[in-house]
Amino acid sequence: MDITRTPKPETPEVPAPYGSGPSSSRHRATDSAGNPAGRIRTHHLQQAKDDGKRFAMLTAYDQYTAEIFDEAGIEVLLVGDSASNNVFGNETSLPVTVDELLPLCRAVTRSAKRALVVADLPFGSYEVSEQQAVATGVRFLKEGLAHAVKIEGGRFYANTVRAMVEAGIPVMAHIGFTPQSEHALGGYRVQGRGDGAQGLIDDATALADAGAFCILMEMVPATIAETIDAAIQVPTIGIGAGNATTGQVLVWQDMAGLRAGKLAKFVKQYADLRSSLLSSAKAYGQEVRAGQFPGPEHCF
Ligand code: KIV
Repeated sequence: MDITRTPKPETPEVPAPYGSGPSSSRHRATDSAGNPAGRIRTHHLQQAKDDGKRFAMLTAYDQYTAEIFDEAGIEVLLVGDSASNNVFGNETSLPVTVDELLPLCRAVTRSAKRALVVADLPFGSYEVSEQQAVATGVRFLKEGLAHAVKIEGGRFYANTVRAMVEAGIPVMAHIGFTPQSEHALGGYRVQGRGDGAQGLIDDATALADAGAFCILMEMVPATIAETIDAAIQVPTIGIGAGNATTGQVLVWQDMAGLRAGKLAKFVKQYADLRSSLLSSAKAYGQEVRAGQFPGPEHCF
């Protein structure tokens, strides 16, 4: 899909001063598919939905994954609070802090030339008040260089979304299974089954009406996600929400097979990075112990 070719509805975008930073890939005029390397904006995601197209989102937490996924044409990079359990070694997403996520976010945004970078507001950084949410959102745009933020929660957060949007912060809303509420929800459970379906539809509608540019649904029955996508104008993103959403997202370590252990039903592994890293580290260790590395070609 080539959503960068979609014109902005009202006025064309003028060239932006991209191209600073340490990576040579940042000086590309086009991406690997030959598409213009201009920044993906929230309106491109809306255009994708309006045109019946799909887009992809992956998490990224550092320079190299951001560069690689950007070069691969992934339209949206999420600096997820899943960094808590995929970078910082916690069991859940709850302990990660704003100060821990901000440097990861900066690294991703500096390294992605084209992708829209969305930052998760971590647990405890937006729930207290609309002012707290605006203040944290500002930090992610100002200090984290993010282009948009994501918050978890249903229609209860509609006023929060409205306040952030009014402050100039693009907001993606995350409904369905919301990992920050895993203790309140009683563990990892599909949301919106049976009587819960109408509540999810109300959540999506209220958040979209409040100005969220996109609704992300996690672990929601495919038929309900499809109903929601049809009921709201803004694009939807799914993770364990079937195949009718405008976009899909996966945690990159799941997608590329870096993580050990049982994977969720909604994950598809496209590589086995864990095996590659394991065998390369074993080979390196063996060569060092055997005195084979460094060889003459590696010596000055
Ligand atoms: O933090 C994260 O990785 C997420 C995805 C599960 C969507 O919120």
